[in-house]
Amino acid sequence: MTVLVTGGAGYIGSHAVLRLLRDGQRVVVIDNLFRGHRGAIARLMSIAQGRLTFIPGDVGDSALVARQIAEHRVHTVMHFAAMAYVGESVNQPLRYYRNNTAASLGLLEAIQQSWTDAERAGRPEGWTGVQKLVFSSTCASYGEPAKQNIPIAETCPQSPVNPYGWSKLFTERMLRDFADQARRDRRSFAWAALRYFNVAGSDPSGLIGEHHEPETHLIPVCLQVALGQREHLSIHGTDYPTPDGTCIRDYVHVLDLVDAHVAVLAALKPGEERIYNLGIGKGMSVRQIIDAVKRVTGRDFKVVHGPRRPGDPPELYADPRKIATELSWSAKITSPDEMVAHAWKWFQANPRGYVD
Ligand SMILES: NC(=O)c1ccc[n+]([C@@H]2O[C@H](COP(=O)([O-])OP(=O)(O)OC[C@H]3O[C@@H](n4cnc5c(N)ncnc54)[C@H](O)[C@@H]3O)[C@@H](O)[C@H]2O)c1
Repeated sequence: MTVLVTGGAGYIGSHAVLRLLRDGQRVVVIDNLFRGHRGAIARLMSIAQGRLTFIPGDVGDSALVARQIAEHRVHTVMHFAAMAYVGESVNQPLRYYRNNTAASLGLLEAIQQSWTDAERAGRPEGWTGVQKLVFSSTCASYGEPAKQNIPIAETCPQSPVNPYGWSKLFTERMLRDFADQARRDRRSFAWAALRYFNVAGSDPSGLIGEHHEPETHLIPVCLQVALGQREHLSIHGTDYPTPDGTCIRDYVHVLDLVDAHVAVLAALKPGEERIYNLGIGKGMSVRQIIDAVKRVTGRDFKVVHGPRRPGDPPELYADPRKIATELSWSAKITSPDEMVAHAWKWFQANPRGYVD
């Protein structure tokens, strides 16, 4: 049986595929390559020993997805596919609701179809359709939490401040209603929403890495400055009520993040819903990250102080105790230098990312 990874040609999805392949699983990736990379798939194919299938297509195309689920007897779905730029979502909200929320609805229709398909096919090799799904949600679904809610636990009220956060929160809601109905229909479907904080780093092998266009994440942007691809780094606000005046965020290494997905999938029992925040539980300021990049690369670069960006809260970091208590998962890589070192290895070898 097979795991379906949506968005597997993207940054986090490709790392999940790598982990699944290393664990000996068979994987189908569906990705429309809108923001993913054929180069990532090619590198994954090179180590897959025939266990990876790539289907270029949209996750909202429920007929296509249902066909792939049935053909490969998919039992588990990791759903990473989404557009994920806050600013873009403000300017193009309908695109975000179409691509993130409505496309997820298409995926759920395909999952529902898989139960009928499995029955009609006589449950070949015990395949009963999709039984588990893990969804990439986001700390953006919490919006701008009140100070007393930081560190952010799963019980923090969800009140997004942009369409990206809403598109994810709506998907969580849709999943809950879908799973409730499945339970009433005596299906054994189980699901989890993992609310990521800031994902960073890359596989230390250097096989795959982070390649967003445009790049907006702090660590890769700093590395692009260190490589001379950008003239300077802009800090958006140096007058926040934080120890060094810059914003504080929680950076979680992509390997740890993927590890949490594997742990959650292993723990999910039929009919269950699990929600976890994924972060290291410690904030790092923009200045601390810049210092780490300068230390690791050994390169100094120009830093420009700009005004605050609207909607950037001073501090956002996770309270990861729920997943630690329930699943004994906690991030192994908590040093910014180690996260930066892995990303730097990738960027040095692939300064322009994947050349698709
Ligand atoms: N990177 C982070 O720090 C972060 C933080 C919180 C949540 N997330 C979530 O994690 C997931 C992965 O993020 P990422 O950084 O790897 O992004 P990414 O852009 O690198 O990967 C997303 C992939 O999904 C594909 N895709 C998008 N819409 C699709 C659709 N409708 N059908 C098929 N393929 C589609 C893209 O082509 C791309 O390959 C997203 O859901 C994102 O919202 C990321």
